Amino acid sequence: MHQHMKTFDIITIFPDIFSGFLKESLISKAISKRLISIRTHYLREWTSDRHQTVDGKPYGGGPGLVMKVEPIMKAVRDLTKRSPKKTRIVLFSPRGKQMDQAMVKRWAKLDRLIFVCGRYEGIDERVANYIADEVVSVGPYVLNGGEVAAMAAIEAVARLVPGFMHDAGSQTKEDHPQYTKPETVTIQKRKHSVPKILLSGDHAKIKAWRESHR
Ligand code: 6GU
Repeated sequence: MHQHMKTFDIITIFPDIFSGFLKESLISKAISKRLISIRTHYLREWTSDRHQTVDGKPYGGGPGLVMKVEPIMKAVRDLTKRSPKKTRIVLFSPRGKQMDQAMVKRWAKLDRLIFVCGRYEGIDERVANYIADEVVSVGPYVLNGGEVAAMAAIEAVARLVPGFMHDAGSQTKEDHPQYTKPETVTIQKRKHSVPKILLSGDHAKIKAWRESHR
C-alpha cells in the first residue's frame, strides 16, 4: 500500500449509493493514482439471522425503527483488526456536531477514516457513546441516512490530499466572486457585465477588490 494513501471505509446498508460518486472524475483519478482508497462495506454481512436484520423497534415505544448496535460493532471490530495507527470512527447522524472545514482539515491528517452511515429513524445510542470517536451531521436538516453526508466528507477531505487537485490554488475556490466569458450577458432582458476592475489588468487593484468581496 502507498505510504500516504488515505483510506476511507464506509459501513452502509446502501453501498450502491456510492457507485456513481466513486466514478466521478477527480475521485476516480485519485483512486487510480493511489492517493486515496475508498471501500464500501455492506452492513448486513455482519448479521447472523436469516433476514439479516439491522434494525429493531425502539425501547420505550414510538414510531420507526432503530439501527442495532451489534452489526455495527462487529463491522467496526473486523475493519479495525489490522488498522494503521491514525484511524477515526465517525458516525453520521443528524444528532451529531455539524461538519465544518476545521473538522475536515483534522481528518485530512489521518491515515484512515471509518464512516458509519446511519439509516432509519435512529441509531442505538451505544454506537455514538462506545463505538464512534465522533458523531457528525452534515447540516441543520434531516436526511434519510448518512450516505450523502459521508460523500460530502470524502470529497472535502480528498481535496486536501496532496496531488488531488490539479492546482493547489484552487483549494480556496470561491472565496471571492468569479467571472468568465462573456463579458456581458442578458438575463431576463437585463444586461449584466463583469466588474470593470477585473478587466483592468491592475493586479494590485484586483487583489484588493477580491479581498473586499470575500
Ligand atoms: Cl449525517 N444523517 C441524517 N440522516 N440526517 C442528517 C445528517 C446525517 N446530517 C444532517 N442531517
